[in-house]
Amino acid sequence: MGHTQRGTKGLPSSDCAIIEEAQRLTLGALPLEGKLKKLCALMGRFTGFDHCLLYLWDADKRAFVLRASSGGNYPLRRNPAPLSYGEGTGAASMVKRRKKPLELVRKGQDELFRAGRGKGFADVGLEGFSSAVIHPLTAANVFYGVIYLKSAAIIRLSEQRRRVLNIVALQMTETVKCAEFASDIHAEHEELVEARARLLNSQKLLSLGDMAATLAHEIRNPLLSIGGYAARLKIHLDGDCKAIAYVNSMLGGVQRVERLMDGMVGFLKDSVVELRPEDMNDIVAEAVRVFEEEAGERGIELVKDLQEGRLPVMADRDQLKIAFDNIIVNAIQSMDKGGRLSVSTSKSGADVVVRVADSGGGIEPGILDRIFNPFFTTKKRGTGLGLPITSAIVARHLGSIVVDNAAGVGATFIMKFKFVDAKNAEGKG
Ligand SMILES: Nc1ncnc2c1ncn2[C@@H]1O[C@H](COP(=O)(O)OP(=O)(O)OP(=O)(O)O)[C@@H](O)[C@H]1O
Ligand SMILES: [Mg+2]
Repeated sequence: MGHTQRGTKGLPSSDCAIIEEAQRLTLGALPLEGKLKKLCALMGRFTGFDHCLLYLWDADKRAFVLRASSGGNYPLRRNPAPLSYGEGTGAASMVKRRKKPLELVRKGQDELFRAGRGKGFADVGLEGFSSAVIHPLTAANVFYGVIYLKSAAIIRLSEQRRRVLNIVALQMTETVKCAEFASDIHAEHEELVEARARLLNSQKLLSLGDMAATLAHEIRNPLLSIGGYAARLKIHLDGDCKAIAYVNSMLGGVQRVERLMDGMVGFLKDSVVELRPEDMNDIVAEAVRVFEEEAGERGIELVKDLQEGRLPVMADRDQLKIAFDNIIVNAIQSMDKGGRLSVSTSKSGADVVVRVADSGGGIEPGILDRIFNPFFTTKKRGTGLGLPITSAIVARHLGSIVVDNAAGVGATFIMKFKFVDAKNAEGKG
């Protein structure tokens, strides 16, 4: 044993150097693509094969997909390596089934290619080559793909080379496995960040509830006096007096503010909505009706396009009207020079869809991710509560709300609710 230089496990030091290099690459800081390409080049170099191709197994597509390769053009130029192999056709599938490496050497003219047919596979990727090794990448019984070595010359691997190839293949598997872990962790991290944002938002809404309750309390007393005095004033006024119309407006306004405060506090304080069987068309039509006059005055063409028939949903009518109100008001406010406001309902699969689209130039892309935040506003007299309240109402109906923004053109708010079979709904009501 003493006469040739031997490394660990009885391997010559040249082989140890290869393993060390593979290890360095595996642990190095290169991006995955770079690592895989260099590992392919290393495998081609030490085995003497012209080409080394890495095919990873895509379990969803049930196919082998080319992820990295190394080597010159010949004879790959004449017969380019397939970008993917479907399951069951190529040598790679054979290796996947056998879970063992496959070594092929041509004996006669293109016998290698034809030989495959006898063994239960036909591999177009072998045409023009004289030898090939297809080595599986597996770890803990999980199959990740294959290393595909091809050569124009006849190459037979020594037992020792096979051992080294096996070790480097293990290191390559490790690299792929780690990258998969990293991408899983990344996806989970993204999910966590999203969940955290949702949590923060709901916390903001909770503190908003406390604030609204205090505010309502402070507003209620002066409001009561205003209402009381207006009512008394009305008694003192002559029935023909012109001012009676003003007093009536005052009373109407006071009532509206009272209702609004009650509704908002009630809504923000406890999350209970009273869901009853309703017709979405009816709710939307009622919400739109309120704005018909205003839209006309502002030069806004109001287009109502409701799905034919009824759209049964379980809904809290008053709350949904608040939600639609907020969206329509925003749309109208965005069109200070007139435009087109279209409100539509439709049924899409199991969903009832309500769309509110305007031609007010859309939302500036830079603020798009903040418009649902409480108190976010770009308006001089805005509270920034319209959209967060709307989104909370929609959420309590187990619905969803998204905005389809066409910057420079207009914004479309799309809300989806569950369609409810009319018979079921009546049963619940
Ligand atoms: N249809 C729309 N077109 C353009 N920008 C919009 C539209 N809807 C919402 N926005 C933007 O989103 C912001 C937040 O809207 P939100 O309704 O929550 O508050 P607000 O309208 O500013 O205030 P408030 O609703 O209290 O009047 C708005 O200030 C505006 O910048
Ligand atoms: Mg608003």
